[in-house]
Amino acid sequence: MKADMFTQEELRNLPRKGTPQPADHTQHAFYGRDILSVDQFNREDLTYIFRVAEEMRAMVKRFGSVDLLQGKVLANLFYEPSTRTSASFMAAMQRLGGQVIPINNVQYSSVAKGESLPDTVRTLEQYADVIVLRHPEVGAAAVAARYARKPIINAGDGIGEHPTQALLDLFTIYDELGTIDGLKIAMVGDLKYGRTVHSLTKLLLLYRVEFYFVSPPILRMPETILQRVRATDQPYTETDNIHDIIREVDVLYVTRVQKERFEDLSEYEAVKDYYVVDTELMRQAKERMIVMHPFPRVGEISYAVDSDPRAAYFRQIENGMYIRMALLAAVLGKA
Ligand code: NCD
Repeated sequence: MKADMFTQEELRNLPRKGTPQPADHTQHAFYGRDILSVDQFNREDLTYIFRVAEEMRAMVKRFGSVDLLQGKVLANLFYEPSTRTSASFMAAMQRLGGQVIPINNVQYSSVAKGESLPDTVRTLEQYADVIVLRHPEVGAAAVAARYARKPIINAGDGIGEHPTQALLDLFTIYDELGTIDGLKIAMVGDLKYGRTVHSLTKLLLLYRVEFYFVSPPILRMPETILQRVRATDQPYTETDNIHDIIREVDVLYVTRVQKERFEDLSEYEAVKDYYVVDTELMRQAKERMIVMHPFPRVGEISYAVDSDPRAAYFRQIENGMYIRMALLAAVLGKA
């Protein structure tokens, strides 16, 4: 799907889709736009999204839901398994008063009959105002966006990007630690196939941070991302030893080894239990720091760590809904 992908320049200037709305609805940078990559965001955009997410949180705590997106319909199209991304988009839409068409089991849809992605999205946009898409191929969201007249939101394209996860991750760091600039941030685990760490690293390049990329040698951060880090002169260290860095870090972002991306399962078996964050390791970490994980976890963080106040991963999951509410409101022009 490479040929259909957008350049960084194109991503920053994606056209608005759909029919123009009254002026006040078209003011938002994201109104009517696809959300395909973190390359679309600048710091001002993030400040804006975070502010709206905070408002969404206050609103949910107070009222549970509102009617901001009443009359709007979201199609949730998932070609890969999902719990959080899928459910949080649905919850986000419903709490804003909108409706959802959930297509989580594509094996029971016409995809199983051989329908192409362009035809599927051009069908769903006849019913919906926005399409959230997760797909196993890098660039799938870009392909969908080329064909669709309604906005596409990338909910993960293979090992490519997961922009909405990166937004909620960054929001969580800011919410928990009060800043992003100056932090020491370690990403641990499968940095090769983990799309969340690809998107998060790129987004963090808008700030001044110090990176620690901690992975088994065969799961290192891709060179294309390292090049981007070097181009901004942000310091980074690569290591396979979590003990080297645990005392230093403000954020420990742990990831699952992405079993489904391995061609050779014996390679997966060799690295799957490489890191386990347990209470013993946490004793060496700073008092003020956080542990994050996009989830699902499959053994990388022991359950005993859950009661540690530094374990931020369930708060991170909650934040996902507020960030997605903010995004849906912005894209549909009602933020
Ligand atoms: C992640 C994903 O799908 O990339 N999950 C998520 O969206 N929260 C991480 C993973 O699957 O390991």
